[in-house]
Amino acid sequence: MKRVFSLAVLFMVPLIFAPQNQCNACSSYLGYFNIFFSSDCYHNPDIDDDILGIIQRHVGVHETHEVRTDDGYFLTLFRIPRQNPKGVILFQHPLVTDARIWISQYNESIAFLFWRAGYDVWLGNIRGNYFCKKHVSLDSTEAAFWNFSFHEIGYYDNHASVEYVKQQTNGSKIVYVGYSLGGTSGMVYASTRDREAADSIKMMVVMTPTTHTGWSCTGLLKYLLCISYNLQGIVSFADPLFVLNRQDAWYIKSVQFLLTHFSCKKCILYVLYLFCGFSEDAFEPDLINMFIRVHASELPFKIFYHYYQIYAADGIFQRYDYGEERNLLLYGDKEPPPYPLENIKVPVYVVHGANDNLDCPNANEKLYSKLPKNSTLHGKLTVEGFNHIDFSCGRYRNEKVYLKILQLLDKINLEDQNILYLQKT
Ligand SMILES: *[C@@H]1O[C@H](CO)[C@@H](O)[C@H](O)[C@H]1NC(C)=O
Ligand SMILES: *[C@@H]1O[C@H](CO)[C@@H](O)[C@H](O)[C@H]1NC(C)=O
Ligand SMILES: *[C@@H]1O[C@H](CO)[C@@H](O)[C@H](O)[C@H]1NC(C)=O
Ligand SMILES: *[C@@H]1O[C@H](CO)[C@@H](O)[C@H](O)[C@H]1NC(C)=O
Repeated sequence: MKRVFSLAVLFMVPLIFAPQNQCNACSSYLGYFNIFFSSDCYHNPDIDDDILGIIQRHVGVHETHEVRTDDGYFLTLFRIPRQNPKGVILFQHPLVTDARIWISQYNESIAFLFWRAGYDVWLGNIRGNYFCKKHVSLDSTEAAFWNFSFHEIGYYDNHASVEYVKQQTNGSKIVYVGYSLGGTSGMVYASTRDREAADSIKMMVVMTPTTHTGWSCTGLLKYLLCISYNLQGIVSFADPLFVLNRQDAWYIKSVQFLLTHFSCKKCILYVLYLFCGFSEDAFEPDLINMFIRVHASELPFKIFYHYYQIYAADGIFQRYDYGEERNLLLYGDKEPPPYPLENIKVPVYVVHGANDNLDCPNANEKLYSKLPKNSTLHGKLTVEGFNHIDFSCGRYRNEKVYLKILQLLDKINLEDQNILYLQKT
């Protein structure tokens, strides 16, 4: 016990006493053990800054917009604007984080990569996250504010965001890039508002969309969710409307502080691997403190439970299950209906990781096989060695994912120009 304690102190002390504005990032995992003196370590101002400060430093232009959903939530959209762009792109973020995930890779951030390539870049935010706490009548301290899952995010938030971006960009068709939850909600949107999506979306890129994950997938999360789901009605924090990560709560701040100052970053990663899949040395060491910092958005358990219901049904992408009685009222059926993927009318590009054990390869094969044949003409991208989080912080994210997406978009733009040319002549 004593030994464990002194070991823990040894790991923490050098960092706790590090003066502020000193090194907070290292280019090697070993560096974090000796952050005062290692030549691998440096101060990264992004880690202490807010999203607009970061965009300002690296790009120099940004806008903030607000849009209201049909059910009364106010969403914040960030834009890195560009005159006469090659295209307009809307990024939608994963669970527990927010729009900052797209700018958390310093000057090599995903959002900046697309901006530099000539795109007008919009960063979406979902209801309830770090930037979206406003509603016309509800307060974010009320349970009713948190009564949503990825269904409402897809049906209301994506609808409002896409239509707003379209209107702000002279009616441009939009490239939607959704990662994890952003992919799930993208599939909800494209299937439930299929006609609108056909008018507004040029291409829908869904990265690890987590729509058909079944029992064979080994990620640890499903076991935790299974326990929690079955404790509903017994303990209050297992309630669907229980809010995880109360913003600025002391316990979240403490956990973030401890993780940021904990020297053994690999230890943190190995725990994450149990949930997200193994990926040897792929997580970029420089990015880990930023990654910790941008993962603190609030969300209701209902989102997790909706995912759990997909697991429990062994990979059926369906509406939220409220129990027979309420299902009958809401859906006209005792069973929650599956999302009508067969209705999708937009081109879809599925991207997923071969080592992902939260959203396994076979689940993505299943999604792919259920999409209409003419919406998947560009095929699918299976990224070797990638787990669930490599899409944001993996060293090879650009070469293996984002540059490929840019190439695909160029190809589509070229095809569109050829079609226009043929129509004219
Ligand atoms: C929209 O039109 C304005 C004025 O014609 C132009 O400056 C701007 O670049 C256009 N934006 C997009 C996204 O096409
Ligand atoms: C980002 O910054 C690093 C270090 O200053 C530099 O080597 C790299 O070329 C920069 N990347 C871009 C895309 O500007
Ligand atoms: C949450 O939403 C469902 C479905 O719309 C509704 O039946 C239920 O009464 C709502 N619960 C609360 C606490 O608002
Ligand atoms: C696929 O074909 C259907 C039926 O002709 C059409 O409604 C839909 O828009 C097409 N989808 C794409 C992505 O072109």
